[in-house]
Amino acid sequence: VVGTGVIGRSWAIVFARAGCRARLYDRDVQQAEKAAELLLPWKTQISVHTDLASALEGVGYVQENSPESLEIKRQVFRDLDAAADPAAILASSTSAFDMSRIADGLPGARRCIIAHPVNPPHVIPAVEVLSGTATDPDVVERTCAFLASVGQTPVRMHKYIHGFLLNRMQFALVREAISLFEQGVADLDDIDAVIRDGLGLRWALMGPFAVANTNADGGIRQYLTGHEQWLMELMDGLGGTPRVDAGLIARLGDAIDQAPGGARRQELRVWRDRMIARINELKRKEPSPR
Ligand SMILES: NC(=O)c1ccc[n+]([C@@H]2O[C@H](COP(=O)([O-])OP(=O)(O)OC[C@H]3O[C@@H](n4cnc5c(N)ncnc54)[C@H](O)[C@@H]3O)[C@@H](O)[C@H]2O)c1
Repeated sequence: VVGTGVIGRSWAIVFARAGCRARLYDRDVQQAEKAAELLLPWKTQISVHTDLASALEGVGYVQENSPESLEIKRQVFRDLDAAADPAAILASSTSAFDMSRIADGLPGARRCIIAHPVNPPHVIPAVEVLSGTATDPDVVERTCAFLASVGQTPVRMHKYIHGFLLNRMQFALVREAISLFEQGVADLDDIDAVIRDGLGLRWALMGPFAVANTNADGGIRQYLTGHEQWLMELMDGLGGTPRVDAGLIARLGDAIDQAPGGARRQELRVWRDRMIARINELKRKEPSPR
């Protein structure tokens, strides 16, 4: 695990929990030591390294989690490619960059791949897996198989698009939520409630297509045909991006401070992660008919 900040330390839990030996490296050794403290239950399986080459010894899969800067990622990948075993997979947690750019010109570009997690990966299993133009198809297969073996859900993308799948869908919704707030259509907590106690309950179990498919007796064909006109009008009418300026951010901040739980971020975060783990457990015990 290279880079042990928010995402790296959570990946380390994923790997250690699955029984892997995990080697931690961060340019700032205090970060790696802090991560190691979280990994005490698996202390015999983890080691902290102050030098990248020693961290990479005997490693078959590298998860890179340095800051989201193309310059930094390119340098880190140059160093990884130079020092890692030639058979090792080099996977990046990048949220935005194309592997074709990160690994451009590297002798080992064929073993470089994106494995973009959702924060925090030890709680949320989906990982977007995406090749660069030079990535070997076998590396995609091996990455997906490895991620599945440590309990994650690899999601394959066929090509690069800015924001990948998850953030495109997430920000389509965040944009609309901000726009509804800005237009004064409802209070902030009521906009959240529509997801929390509405759409989100279904979305924890199935995606938008499966929801559409179960929303009409005749499935997605009937859903989209029967409601064609108003749906098309609605989708066409979804506006552009609201101007998220300092004034709007301040209004959003004030509104969330006053909303229930808005000032109890840390408690909410802990509760959220605990509840997600329980939902995952429930889904494992009673898998969807598919
Ligand atoms: N935080 C999220 O919600 C989230 C979600 C998915 C993906 N990601 C991606 O994960 C990556 C890491 O994000 P984060 O939120 O954990 O950031 P972070 O700032 O918490 O951690 C980055 C870590 O990288 C270390 N670092 C800096 N330069 C380094 C180098 N040259 N070699 C090794 N380590 C180095 C820093 O010391 C720090 O510990 C980014 O690419 C980000 O886009 C983040």
